[in-house]
This record gives sequence, structure tokens and C-alpha cells, in this order.
Amino acid sequence: MVDIKEEFQKRFKKKPDHIFFSPGRINLIGEHIDYNGGRVMPCAISLGIFLAVSKNTDKKFRLQCLNFPETAELHLQRSYSKTGREWFNYPLGVIDYLIREECAISGLDMLFYGNLPIGAGLSSSASIEVLTAFTLNELFQLSLSLVDIAVLSKKVENEFIGMNCGIMDQFAVTFGKKDRAILLNCDTLEYELLPFKINGHVLAIINTNKSRKLTDSKYNERFAECGKVLKELKKEINAHNLCDISMEQFQSHKSLIKDPVLEKRAAHVISENFRVNEAAKVLKQGDLGKFGQLMYDSHKSLKELYEVSGKELDTIVEFCKTFGDCIGARMTGAGFGGCAIALIKKESLQDFSKALVDYYKNKIGYEPDVFASEIGDGVREVF
Ligand code: GLA
Repeated sequence: MVDIKEEFQKRFKKKPDHIFFSPGRINLIGEHIDYNGGRVMPCAISLGIFLAVSKNTDKKFRLQCLNFPETAELHLQRSYSKTGREWFNYPLGVIDYLIREECAISGLDMLFYGNLPIGAGLSSSASIEVLTAFTLNELFQLSLSLVDIAVLSKKVENEFIGMNCGIMDQFAVTFGKKDRAILLNCDTLEYELLPFKINGHVLAIINTNKSRKLTDSKYNERFAECGKVLKELKKEINAHNLCDISMEQFQSHKSLIKDPVLEKRAAHVISENFRVNEAAKVLKQGDLGKFGQLMYDSHKSLKELYEVSGKELDTIVEFCKTFGDCIGARMTGAGFGGCAIALIKKESLQDFSKALVDYYKNKIGYEPDVFASEIGDGVREVF
């Protein structure tokens, strides 16, 4: 177990004044529809990122992380720009945003440490952005609301980092609540906290351990495709977002779409939004079996229509379908590797895990990581 206070003391020769924490997230259902104005159902998890921090008087931002050797030391200036693909671009983007908004902030010594797999589709990037924004808001009394924090963190990801993500991840890590799923309308940001009662089951996270170099560009490609197909459908349908369109409207107007690839993309988005509404209904009724089936349906659609899965994620879901005590599974997050989630009978978790590791290793050549996850709270001060 890492002692972040002690590490901070070693590096900065003083004690940290505060420790903040921001979680990672999984998404139960509603994939690739946040940037289409749909409804999604993420949860914050108990793993996440810690930040030990103290103000300094020399007006410098010192950014260090126990997970990476690269560090940054920057004078307070009017703006910053992104440097390569270094981890510190995420907090730096938030600092840049706040300075440009004329928020009165000053030097900080910051040490980050993440106990969640980084870059594995559990939103380590949203987590570190929200963590930085929340911390600066507290330390410099910026009077930002939690919604402001989620929204500005998304802007940083879009504009500073260059990934056209939706609001789901930043919202989930900000507003997460223990044992609750967040049913979020990504168009209006209205949300409801649904009890996530999985009596006798556990939610397992399965990390494919696949490195994901193409994620950002493929993601931006899907984002652009959705924009194009919406434009075509808008010729006859009055809609602001793809998710405003019903399945019936889509069926009767799909001849407007000339490219079959774009038609598949729209079919995923519109059907996935419908599945989220169904999932919320059955969750409220306590019908976990139906919920699990919707997870499988969601995966199929992401695999065949949206084409963001891959052989690693498909191998996991394929295995889950053959394992009697698994009632549902799907990829979670952007896809192209990253993680899958599965609902498994509590007493079978060990057998599941062992059999899955063997099956996956045999097909893919290396092992996945399997762990049970707890649904936790959103960003907060922990010390
Ligand atoms: C990533 C993005 C989110 C969302 C998911 C797919 O996690 O950051 O905004 O689009 O992919 O649902």
C-alpha cells in the first residue's frame, strides 16, 4: 500500500496540506451515446486517483505522479499548451482553463497516485481532470459548482487534449454515489440515482490488458460519423441529437442515409438509447435477469453496428455467455480494448475468474485481470 503522505514529504520536504480523491467509473449501459444526447448509466467505482497537495509561495505548479516518472515544473503564466502524450497534460489542461477564465489561482505542489488501471477504459483521464478542478476549487475558493467542475473537465478533454468525448465520464466521477447507478440525460444533465441492488451477485471488471493506441482517433472518427448521419436524418426529421430520434422514425427515414456504415452507426445509437430506458425500468423492478440480457444486447450492437469492440472484448463476452452463473456482460467505455464488465453470482466469482483467465489466455496469448468492483462515491477530500 502506497503512503502518499510519506512520498509527498520525501519529494517536497514538507507535509501535504490536503489529500483529495476522485474515482474511476464503469458504465453499466448506454455506450457511445453521451455525445449524441442520450441517456447513460455509469457508476463511480472505489478505485481512483489520490492527490496530495500543498500551496507554495514560489508561484510554480509542480506536477508529479507515483505511477509515471515524468514530472513538470511550470511557472504561473497566462496559458499552457499540451506537451506530447504525457500524463500531466490532464491536470495542466485544467490549470490552463482556470487561468484563461481569470480564476485567481497560484502555485501548488501536487503529487498524484492512481490505484486504478490507467488508460484501461475506467476513466483515469476524467478522474484526474475532475480531481484537479475540484482541488483548485476548494483551495482557491473559486465558487464552482459540481456541474461546473464536470463540464469544464469535459471541455479540457475536448479542447486541450483533443478527444471529442461526451460528458458521461466527468459527470460520473463527480456525482457518483455508493451503491447507486447514475441515470444521466446527457442533453439536459438531469440525473437520477438508481439503487444498484444486485442481490447475491457481484459486478466484475475484466481488464483486457490490451494496449490502446488508436482509441482517440477511432473515437473521434465515430463522433464525426454521428454528426454526418444526424445531418442526413435532419433533412426530414426535426431532431437536435441522434438520440431524439425514435426507432420508428429511424426505420421510416433511413433511406435518407446513403452510406451503409453510417446507417449501422445510427442503428446502434438509437437502439442503445432505447436499451438504457429499458434497463432503468427493469432495474427499478429488480429484474436482474432482464438487465443482464440488455447488457449482452448492448455488446452485440457495439460489436456489429458501432464496431468499437475487438477480439479481446468479444472473447470475454463470448466466455461469459457460456458461464451459467454470469447473467450479463458487455464492454464498458470507449472500447477497442479497455475493460468489460460482468454480473456474476457471488459464490462463483473465483471459478469464473479462473476459467475466464484460462480461456482468454488460450485465445489471446496473455492474461486479463479480473476483479470484483464496488460502487463508490464521487470526488471528495479524504484528509
Ligand atoms: C469514453 C468517453 C465517454 C463516452 C464513452 C463511450 O469513455 O470519454 O464520453 O463517450 O467513451 O460511451
